[in-house]
Amino acid sequence: MSPRTLARAVHNAVRRPARTTQMLLDRRSWAGIAWFLRDGRSRQSADDERPITSRSYRSYDAYVAHQRSKLALLDLSEYDRTFRVALADRLAEESWSGLSVLCLAARLGTEVKAFHDVGAFAVGIDLNPGDENPWVLPGDFHRLVFPDRCVDAAYCNALDHALDLDRTVDEIRRVLKPGGRLVVEAQQGTADVAFDAWAATAWNRIDDLVKAVESRGLTLLRRRGITEPWAGEQLVFVTPV
Ligand SMILES: C[S@@+](CC[C@H](N)C(=O)[O-])C[C@H]1O[C@@H](n2cnc3c(N)ncnc32)[C@H](O)[C@@H]1O
Repeated sequence: MSPRTLARAVHNAVRRPARTTQMLLDRRSWAGIAWFLRDGRSRQSADDERPITSRSYRSYDAYVAHQRSKLALLDLSEYDRTFRVALADRLAEESWSGLSVLCLAARLGTEVKAFHDVGAFAVGIDLNPGDENPWVLPGDFHRLVFPDRCVDAAYCNALDHALDLDRTVDEIRRVLKPGGRLVVEAQQGTADVAFDAWAATAWNRIDDLVKAVESRGLTLLRRRGITEPWAGEQLVFVTPV
């Protein structure tokens, strides 16, 4: 676990003692911690030679179990409020009214709510949407259950959690209508999957991520810097018409 992740976990634990006690009593938290101690240190760093790399897992099931384990360790109430407002503000610069949007790896649905705020029909999928989540369905972005060319747009701020980036982008491209948009939000400086104990993919620079997405047949339309929920960029890609 990186020093930054550890410091954030300790800060959250001390700030909310009731929540920390509840978390320690939840066996799903211990499953995540046990996974990390057993398997979580295997990782690779991206560099100029290998600009995109993936964490090594013993099996696909181990990857899924690892990704699913994060939710029980988090208190997202503040994030849900602040990220929703920040995302809705930047989305509001263009028209989303009446468009269908699939939010990939949407966790508890913060981005889905932001798309609703700007008038879109949006739904999320996530490996672990928690219990009884009205905004997000259980699902894996490597194998979407939706038919070809069925949505106007897709949103993802968690491509660093993909085990197979090419396959994930191919799936997104498959479900987008011709001329459909993929909005990716990505962090700067994620050259090492160790930056986040749950990241499965790392890119050396955001430009390397752009190249990887474009290599699957999408075209970058525009890009801009963002500061919420972290410093990074919003990238808008379009599928061929
Ligand atoms: C950093 S969180 C992002 C959550 C959300 N987008 C947000 O901003 O609140 C990463 C999420 O990716 C999900 N995830 C990881 N691998 C996935 C996969 N293959 N398919 C769908 N969701 C996945 C995890 O369960 C986790 O909720």
